[in-house]
Amino acid sequence: MNTDHIVRTFVEYFEERGHRRITGSTLLPPPGNPVLFTTSGMHPLTPYLEGHPHPLGRRLVNVQRCLRTTDLEEVGDNTHLTVFEMLGTWSLGDYEGPLSLDWGYRLLTEGLGINPGLLHATVFGGDDRTGLDTASLELWQERGVPVELTVEDNWWSSGPTGPCGPDSEIFLWTGSTPPESTPTGDDRWVEVWNHVMMRYRRLTDGSLVPLPQRNVDTGLGLERLALLLQGHTSVFECDVFEPWRRLLPALWQLDELSLRLTYDHLRSAIVVIGDGVRPANTGRGYVLRRLLRRVLTILQRDDPRRSLGDLPDELVEHTLDHFRQEGDPDVVRQVLLEEERRFGRLLQRGRQILARPRLQGPLGDDDLHYLHDTHGLPRDLVLNLRSEG
Ligand code: SER
Repeated sequence: MNTDHIVRTFVEYFEERGHRRITGSTLLPPPGNPVLFTTSGMHPLTPYLEGHPHPLGRRLVNVQRCLRTTDLEEVGDNTHLTVFEMLGTWSLGDYEGPLSLDWGYRLLTEGLGINPGLLHATVFGGDDRTGLDTASLELWQERGVPVELTVEDNWWSSGPTGPCGPDSEIFLWTGSTPPESTPTGDDRWVEVWNHVMMRYRRLTDGSLVPLPQRNVDTGLGLERLALLLQGHTSVFECDVFEPWRRLLPALWQLDELSLRLTYDHLRSAIVVIGDGVRPANTGRGYVLRRLLRRVLTILQRDDPRRSLGDLPDELVEHTLDHFRQEGDPDVVRQVLLEEERRFGRLLQRGRQILARPRLQGPLGDDDLHYLHDTHGLPRDLVLNLRSEG
């Protein structure tokens, strides 16, 4: 089952249950949102979760591209990506959590053919502010799905402030033995679908107030579900990475981890540029710059002649098409090349400055600050250059 088929099955299932499909937004959240990038399908919907009527009603479904830098260190493992697509559903003050969980259970088992014996749920166990989520617990018990109760792992917030609430997550067993242990006890349980009972708003002082309506917000990572349904072990083996796997290893001979990071970071950089972001030293532009510098460092580590200028056009075009972006592939290529040149100049300057006698010993925090503030050399770059020599 390829990703297009999964998307169609998902969207049609919820359309048959009264949901209207909304168009996904860009990676840039609406003004006033406390996050830099859309990290979840709910961000563009924040005003409606807070009570504004949505023009398409109270039941919505969509596919939203998301970017998460919190997982950057985990990218390269089997399940994390920087940019990914999230299939989402919303009840804007309409139906409640148990119905959402029941639909989720039925779609996974009856619609997508997952063996119910491979599922595990987690449910919010309660704390001093909000009690145990008994409605979700009872639903899972009725369906015969084992449940683990947690506190922090089952509370979802969209950012430091804003909508939040207890959630119930559905995990799928990926081990080759029969299922054992629980989601927090064995990482062969992989989270596939999160259902958030989004009923509160967190204020700047950390306190919680009820939202004007009781919402349900669900999100399911498309590439992760595809990897599980397609029987692969890593997201990089699913169909969306097919052109990357076909073209890049022949161009750049890299080890598997370096290839995965290159696929992920370059694909993410193309999408971010396609959404109008340009490299910069702060904010969104800095995230883009970091992604590109990480790729360039990997590529040029054992061959300084490797250049983003060799990146096949097909990969830029495939990525923009996949994310339904209108951007011009030539503009994307120019941005990549300009950033590569800039990084090259910075490296050259960095090497010259680091060769100075006063910087020969081990570098302390003062040296790192001086190199950053006076010469514009970021800490990571200095440490990389030092490890070269
Ligand atoms: N907002 C929740 C999440 O990102 C569910 O959509 O997991």
